[in-house]
Amino acid sequence: VILDDPESVAEFAARRIAHVIAVAASRGRAGAIGVATGSSPLGTYRHLADLAAAGQLDLAHVSAFALDEYVGLPYDHPESYHAVIARTVTEPLGLDPALVHVPDGAATDPQAACARYEELIRGAGGIDIQLLGIGANGHIGFNEPTSSLTSRTRIKTLAQRTREDNARFFDSPDQVPIHCITQGLGTIADAGQALLVATGGSKAAAVAAMVEGPVTSMCPASVLQMHPHATVVVDDEAASRL
Ligand code: GLP
Repeated sequence: VILDDPESVAEFAARRIAHVIAVAASRGRAGAIGVATGSSPLGTYRHLADLAAAGQLDLAHVSAFALDEYVGLPYDHPESYHAVIARTVTEPLGLDPALVHVPDGAATDPQAACARYEELIRGAGGIDIQLLGIGANGHIGFNEPTSSLTSRTRIKTLAQRTREDNARFFDSPDQVPIHCITQGLGTIADAGQALLVATGGSKAAAVAAMVEGPVTSMCPASVLQMHPHATVVVDDEAASRL
């Protein structure tokens, strides 16, 4: 779906998520959404908050699962994804914090935390719709190039490019964590729907590789080509190399 500007992308994505939640509710289920960090989905969260405030969306019992988390940051570090998700998703959307889950990057046994996270998702009956951004190198979540297309939630080493891209959130580049926990590509592929949003020219090459390139672990987002219900929503600039 190619739209004029980032605002239209955000509105489209929010309406799609609201629809999926409404369908789940009509089947007697609260629904579970997969949420992403990064700047790409922020407009979508704003629109969802507006829909909820207007009474067009009931999020009271909806659960949310974040894609990823840094390893080694305390939960209350402002750039931990625990804090980012609380700030940008849980609070503005009025979600029940008990139903919002983020991988436990501060766990004493991060390996066990990965297995627990998979269990949590399964226990919720799976994710109805997974919202995604895309990294400039084609990553989704923190599944960096060379990630197995069937991977599950696990510990990964961040690519140098990703650490550089995310350095702007930290006081100095060497404070960006080296490791992370991320849902795997196989975990993401299990969601009922995948909804990827990308805007701006800096994402154009990654979007073209994801949509028109080969399915390859060198462009992890290309795994969405095999998803039975994936939607990629981009603005004109992000679509410029299609
Ligand atoms: C981060 C996140 C991804 C996100 C990506 C793009 O590293 N782990 O989930 O999609 O980078 O971020 P942005 O949307 O700010 O460009």
